[in-house]
Amino acid sequence: MQCSWKVVILLTLVYMVIQYTIIQSFSTMTQNVCRPSHPANHSISHQHHPEEHPYTFNSSGKKQHILILAATRSGSSFFGQLFNHHPDVFYLYEPLNQIQMALQSTQANRRMILGASRDLLRGLFLCDLHLLEAYITPAPENHITDHLKRRGASKALCTPPVCDSFAPHLVNVTEAECEQKCGSLNLTLASQACQQRGSVVIKTVRVPEVSDVKDLLEDPRLNLKVIQLVRDPRGVLASRMLAFPENYPLMRLWKMKHQKPEGLNLTQVPVCEDFLSSVTTALSQPAWLRGRYMLVRYEDVASNTLQKVQEIFETLALPVDEDIMDWIDKNTKGKYDWSPMDAFSTKRDSATNSENWRLKLSFGMVEYLQTFCKTTLNQLGYKIVNSSTELKNVSLSLVEGRTWKPFQ
Ligand SMILES: *[C@@H]1O[C@H](CO)[C@@H](O)[C@H](O)[C@H]1NC(C)=O
Ligand SMILES: *[C@@H]1O[C@H](CO)[C@@H](O)[C@H](O)[C@H]1NC(C)=O
Ligand SMILES: *[C@@H]1O[C@H](CO)[C@@H](O)[C@H](O)[C@H]1NC(C)=O
Ligand SMILES: *[C@@H]1O[C@H](CO)[C@@H](O)[C@H](O)[C@H]1NC(C)=O
Ligand SMILES: *[C@@H]1O[C@H](CO)[C@@H](O)[C@H](O)[C@H]1NC(C)=O
Ligand SMILES: *[C@@H]1O[C@H](CO)[C@@H](O)[C@H](O)[C@H]1NC(C)=O
Ligand SMILES: *[C@@H]1O[C@H](CO)[C@@H](O)[C@H](O)[C@H]1NC(C)=O
Repeated sequence: MQCSWKVVILLTLVYMVIQYTIIQSFSTMTQNVCRPSHPANHSISHQHHPEEHPYTFNSSGKKQHILILAATRSGSSFFGQLFNHHPDVFYLYEPLNQIQMALQSTQANRRMILGASRDLLRGLFLCDLHLLEAYITPAPENHITDHLKRRGASKALCTPPVCDSFAPHLVNVTEAECEQKCGSLNLTLASQACQQRGSVVIKTVRVPEVSDVKDLLEDPRLNLKVIQLVRDPRGVLASRMLAFPENYPLMRLWKMKHQKPEGLNLTQVPVCEDFLSSVTTALSQPAWLRGRYMLVRYEDVASNTLQKVQEIFETLALPVDEDIMDWIDKNTKGKYDWSPMDAFSTKRDSATNSENWRLKLSFGMVEYLQTFCKTTLNQLGYKIVNSSTELKNVSLSLVEGRTWKPFQ
């Protein structure tokens, strides 16, 4: 019995090493091929003059790589859409899910998964989508696949040249419609389409802290910026409790019985720890992050989407495009029921209701969470509530006015 366990573990490790080596050699092999040999001619980006804005990053025609670092239920689907609809952006939605799914049943630990994640991110930013093939089941043949998860969440994978079923400026196509009508995905074609765009944007909730991508920030082949999206941790938890009730049995019991259950002892709330650790690192301005980090609060984006987007895009020298204005208009004002490109409805959790969690948690629960998250709340500018009246009075915002200068 013991012996067969050892064999299984040994085999798994061998398998992982082989896979890792393949990925490594793949990326060295393809880096030369995929690195744009000269800066892409993305004339759109040049309509805007970088000098106009004091914090604008000087991209001087170089391809930009933007990583949106977020946490589950922190509003990142909504935020990602703002980039997804930009015509000069090649946007990928949670590509690291492929790794998570492929490796979760193995003995891979956090360090291995992060290592593989970094290599995949590096390759994807350099427009080598073939790297995804190692994680897709069944394995793609001739770089063609029907099994890339959430393909339909990337507009660039649903429009020409990758898919001819929809016009480049598609408006109300859903994720499912894209997957139905576009047919198989040609990863070679997708890699080529990626090279034609001025920016590659990847959104992920699978990288807990900015220091986890230090290697990528230091990689001379990349021109990486990190946008860290945070949200009030109390709101994140309320949203997670609703979305994944099976993970929060005691909190649900508390809600039902209006009384703190005996066994509940959170001692730490991962989202608070991760935010605190990552933001503290970033705000200390280490050399490897200087000029490459921007902290964004979801509540600020939700309450004033247009202005915030203009501000963010300006610092990235991305023009605010009509498609994006249109998307914002339709998705923040409750005019439509559909949410293009995202079947999991980005709208549900957006805009006006970013502070709705206050009606879903009791004061006792909030008070309890606050004891673990106080430092994080203070650092990010979210007010502690002192009474049930304060909690339920939604005309009293808990979001303090704060600004963090981007990309310093
Ligand atoms: C870039 O594209 C624009 C419009 O397509 C064209 O007018 C311009 O000459 C191109 N510039 C270069 C350097 O290729
Ligand atoms: C951007 O950088 C390039 C090369 O480093 C430099 O020549 C140019 O003057 C810079 N532009 C601005 C607006 O700072
Ligand atoms: C998309 O918009 C067009 C015209 O605006 C409309 O005819 C069509 O029914 C819409 N499709 C969906 C799926 O809402
Ligand atoms: C995939 O796209 C590449 C690049 O456009 C093309 O050469 C190849 O023939 C395509 N593969 C298939 C099976 O269509
Ligand atoms: C909660 O658990 C931690 C460690 O697991 C322990 O140190 C602490 O005393 C516990 N708190 C309560 C209130 O039980
Ligand atoms: C709760 O009390 C603290 C400390 O007195 C104060 O800083 C905070 O603003 C209060 N919260 C609200 C929502 O007024
Ligand atoms: C709710 O907060 C607002 C703004 O601070 C305040 O004017 C109002 O009196 C509060 N309402 C209640 C019922 O406390």
